[in-house]
Amino acid sequence: MRRDATPRRYLMCPPAHFKVTYSINPWMDPGKPVDLPLCLAQWEDLRDRYRSLGHTVELLEPRPELPDMVFAANGATVIDGRVLGARFAYPERSAEAQEHLDWFRAHGYTEIHEPSHINEGEGDFAVTATYVLAGRGFRSSPLSHDEAQEFFGRPVIGLDLVDPRYYHLDTALSVLDGDEVMYFPEAFSPGSRAVLRRLFPDALVATEADAAALGLNAVSDGLHVLLPQEALGLFEPLRDRGFEPIGMDLGELLKGGGSVKCCTQELRP
Ligand code: ARG
Repeated sequence: MRRDATPRRYLMCPPAHFKVTYSINPWMDPGKPVDLPLCLAQWEDLRDRYRSLGHTVELLEPRPELPDMVFAANGATVIDGRVLGARFAYPERSAEAQEHLDWFRAHGYTEIHEPSHINEGEGDFAVTATYVLAGRGFRSSPLSHDEAQEFFGRPVIGLDLVDPRYYHLDTALSVLDGDEVMYFPEAFSPGSRAVLRRLFPDALVATEADAAALGLNAVSDGLHVLLPQEALGLFEPLRDRGFEPIGMDLGELLKGGGSVKCCTQELRP
């Protein structure tokens, strides 16, 4: 199958102040040191890769008191130029929501909804051609799903996450193109697995090893799929489907429980 890349616009935040001083997911161990210069170099590699593929990368100013701000995907969800702000589950990250809102206001966005219910942006909302897939169970409130549906006017499909290692939807499922996804079934409840099978019968189904390398925390432009380089088992099936997998090393950010997708918020026109 012939694939085409379409130019994207991404919002990222450099990990200038990244560290692991608290633990709000099982990947985070405050006792494990982070190599900050290495972390920055790995992140810059990702940013530069997007730019060399022809994408636009916008930057958010990092704040010293918000070490997780590098995970920019969590700060909002943008579809059709409309911005659904975030509301974080943990107080350690709650001030990030305002940073994102300020950025959108300063960059000409006018359709902005400040949410009533907890949602961690694209951490839990994945946008396909037809649906908004929405994770719940660890972070985003099920009530945020109705709020998103009303605001975006797109059908929102709620999915129950059941494994704490896959606390955000974007750690267990990735949109490849249109209505094509890849996911790790065991991260979901039996009912949600059945929903995924029904909606996406041809999905690429990931193994435990690839999921555990955060291989599903991937970003696709319709052709190139940027994903953690350790998720080796995904490369061949992606190529078989006509995609071009690009392995990235974001090993330092993995200590915060995030990788490629977590660092990347897509600004959908
Ligand atoms: N330490 C961050 C947290 O637990 C990591 C967020 C990762 N972001 C993501 N989109 N999954 O909130």
